[in-house]
Amino acid sequence: MSTKVVLGGQWGDEGKAKIVDILASCADVVVRTSGGNNAGHTVINNGETYKFHLIPSGILYEKTLCIIGNGCVIDIDGFLDELNALKQKGISDKNLYISERAHLVLPYHKVLDGASEEALGEQNIGTTKKGIGPAYMDKAERSGIRVIDLFFEETLKKQVFKNVEIKNKILKHVYGLDTQIDPQEMYDKLISFREEVKDLVADTTVMVHESIVAGKDVLFEGAQGSLLDIDTGTYPYVTSSHPVAGGVSVGAGIGPNQLDRIIGVLKGYITRVGEGPFPTELTDELGEKIRQAGHEFGTTTGRPRRCGWFDAVAGEFAVRTSGLTEIVLNKIDVLSGLGKIKICTAYEYEGKTLKHFPSSLKILEKCKPIYEEIEGFGDISHIKTYDELPEEAKNYIRRIEKLLSVKVSMIGVGPDRTQNIVVD
Ligand code: GDP
Ligand code: IMO
Ligand code: MG
Repeated sequence: MSTKVVLGGQWGDEGKAKIVDILASCADVVVRTSGGNNAGHTVINNGETYKFHLIPSGILYEKTLCIIGNGCVIDIDGFLDELNALKQKGISDKNLYISERAHLVLPYHKVLDGASEEALGEQNIGTTKKGIGPAYMDKAERSGIRVIDLFFEETLKKQVFKNVEIKNKILKHVYGLDTQIDPQEMYDKLISFREEVKDLVADTTVMVHESIVAGKDVLFEGAQGSLLDIDTGTYPYVTSSHPVAGGVSVGAGIGPNQLDRIIGVLKGYITRVGEGPFPTELTDELGEKIRQAGHEFGTTTGRPRRCGWFDAVAGEFAVRTSGLTEIVLNKIDVLSGLGKIKICTAYEYEGKTLKHFPSSLKILEKCKPIYEEIEGFGDISHIKTYDELPEEAKNYIRRIEKLLSVKVSMIGVGPDRTQNIVVD
């Protein structure tokens, strides 16, 4: 049995959850390895829509073991809300585990996220305001609180009181806010969280490793997308974790050689939520048409997603920085009826042609996409096999395969689990 990784190959929201849901039908284990509830993952099954933020989409399958790995950050309120909402829908948490090593997102992280965005004004990142950046900051600063810390009350209390003292100073003196956190209340909240989740806590690095060694089908559910990676993405307009393949091995606590198929999900166009340069963005009626056709509104924040033509420079970047072994070209039904379709094959920057995604945003913001036009196609949302696709759609897929030097293994033609074409 091989392990499979499903990653976002753009700026997030590529439809990863639909692909995870499809592949999870034969998975024994589904693992989230990075990010927190900044993610919004939609699964549509038998007409019912499920929106996941932190809990792996595999939870819809009763027997599947679902793991929130050490690379994730767990919002104590958000997690319980999501879990309770699922329980109300009759979905059990009996196979759900959270890593002892995962860091917690506390209410003060959310306050700090909002305060920082406010203070940045026009230079804001456009975060989800879920406290993700501040929680990963604490992790890197080595002051974060981890799930395992909840079980050692004396040290926990000291850490909480120290953290709150510092955060209160920051809120007051850096951001000039009246909001102050009560350390005892925060400590009590953490103890009550522990009581709710104590049966779910485990050393998930061992669980994942043993599952792989036992030959189980292990699926890793990526969050965000390669262009949002804190190291290689469009810094500073990125998230604070590693949504690339390297982040999967670190975030699950396993070796990189334990990842077999690395599947990148890319839309047949591209979207972005939040700020930052976006070379192929369509700010005109066409962009609005794609937004409406693709229902491109944030799953987590409801914000309209910025839409643009498929960007093969960004696509090649995703293939290269994660070593993608195949891609899923998703949501190509959204391009139906648009007439001619454009693909950006390179950028023009100050008279030069760039084939690779630049590191500097100063360069990226001046890059002009060099487009190639491809014949469009009509409605394909009912199509079930590759052979039935119109020749124009096949040309489009083949062109993307050529530009990215990687095979397309699945094609998304609609939001439902059944609207997916397996190429071979
Ligand atoms: P994720 O964050 O990558 O899991 O993606 P989101 O769930 O945030 O956004 C993807 C959206 O596209 C959701 O509303 C899905 O239901 C929808 N979707 C997924 N695949 C397809 C597809 O092939 N075609 C269309 N039209 N919609 C899709
Ligand atoms: P999924 O898993 C799209 C974006 C935010 C913002 C930047 C930083 O659904 O694909 P953060 O709150 O993480 O500090 O925000 O990252 N962002 C996403 N965009 N999809 C996501 O997740 C995202 N998670 C974060 O919009 O630009
Ligand atoms: Mg999403």
